[in-house]
Amino acid sequence: MERDVEFASRDEVVALQTRRLREALRHAYERVPFYRSAFDAAGVRPEDLQRPEDLARFPFTVKDDLRQTYPFGMFAVPRGEVLRLHASSGTTGRPIVVGYTRADLDVWAGLVARSIRAAGGRAGMMVHVAYGYGLFTGGLGAHAGAERLGCTVVPASGGMTERQVQLIADFGPEIIMVTPSYALAILDEFRRQGRDPRATALQYGIFGAEPWTNAMRAEIESAFGIEATDIYGLSELMGPGVAQECVETKDGLHLWEDHFYPEIIDPATGAVLPDGKTGELVLTALSHEAMPIIRYRTRDLTRLLPGTARPGMRRMEKIGGRADDMIILRGVNLFPSQIEELLLANEWGSGHFVIELTRPQRLDEMTVRAECRPEHWDGAGLAGEAAAFAHHIKATIGVTAHVVIEPPGTLERSVGKAKRVRDLRPK
Ligand code: DLL
Repeated sequence: MERDVEFASRDEVVALQTRRLREALRHAYERVPFYRSAFDAAGVRPEDLQRPEDLARFPFTVKDDLRQTYPFGMFAVPRGEVLRLHASSGTTGRPIVVGYTRADLDVWAGLVARSIRAAGGRAGMMVHVAYGYGLFTGGLGAHAGAERLGCTVVPASGGMTERQVQLIADFGPEIIMVTPSYALAILDEFRRQGRDPRATALQYGIFGAEPWTNAMRAEIESAFGIEATDIYGLSELMGPGVAQECVETKDGLHLWEDHFYPEIIDPATGAVLPDGKTGELVLTALSHEAMPIIRYRTRDLTRLLPGTARPGMRRMEKIGGRADDMIILRGVNLFPSQIEELLLANEWGSGHFVIELTRPQRLDEMTVRAECRPEHWDGAGLAGEAAAFAHHIKATIGVTAHVVIEPPGTLERSVGKAKRVRDLRPK
């Protein structure tokens, strides 16, 4: 059944969505006081939804709503029916708590299994999971999906990079699931140990949890000799497996629209934008029991495109950045991913970089610290290349950046999500 839905026509998917949307609105309205008062305040009732587009009349849910109801205020079922809790770390204040019933865990595992298969994985393959295990949804989410598909799972979690390399070399997994930035750290460790990263059994990599560019894809694919695809998700909506790129097309991520309804809005006005226009992704969960979630503003910026490899499911373009990560430098807006793209076009560029923002006098300044590939390091900092890169940034993005090319192996490595921006400006 689930496999049939994956390949269903657009009309079939929309019919299913309409049914499930109405049910999801009713479940939220009847079981969660937060939604009841929000819908009442907006003057809408679950029955008001006739077509998916009618969802635009319903109010948004934002991260702060989930904080206000900490820890279990958004749950629609008695706590005893919640089999699992996850929480997003949240750098400040209360974390956001998510709960799952047995049925929710089942849907999640099914969607991650579907995602792994879309990435090239098959039953019988071995999956090395280097996403962190714990309250973060990456490790356990990937794990359950890989088991569901019938794979042998290696629950490596993040960290202990030397051992990651040893396990990959000795066990011979065909698939790795990891953040792209940590994949680069594993790659460095292969080289440090004098091992050839292309000589492993790895065939497929499923990378997500942070923005990464097609330039980074090319880098990772050639370094490991694998096919790399993008997986998207967020704790508030479930975890990994909300959307996944298909290996045969690598043209953006198919949203699993049988369980999630996507909208793109203008982040300033909240107005729904037509498919093809870039804006903020808003997601509604269609089948959640424990924690219904209606029109959640993700802060992630992308656009919706028609389905290709899965004709009934729309795609979202690779995420260029989060509204929260946007740097505004003297009136120019930019995302770290734009720097990543340009950086990897340089022969010396290794993909390890950090952007520092400072305010030495009255104006903000940006410094890009980018690590050199070992074989290109001149012992001094490649002055000519640094100047040329700064010029290239100015010419393409329009901002003045200082560029410092750092010696190989000197920038801090993340074991999960990379932190690309260090804001050192006085508050
Ligand atoms: O990062 C879930 C996940 C785990 C996805 C493993 C993929 C793989 P959170 O920690 O709640 O959940 O962070 C969610 O991470 O709103 C995006 O800003 C970002 N993000 C996740 N996947 C991608 C991706 C997990 N493929 C937040 N590309 C989201 C870009 C991503 N950003």
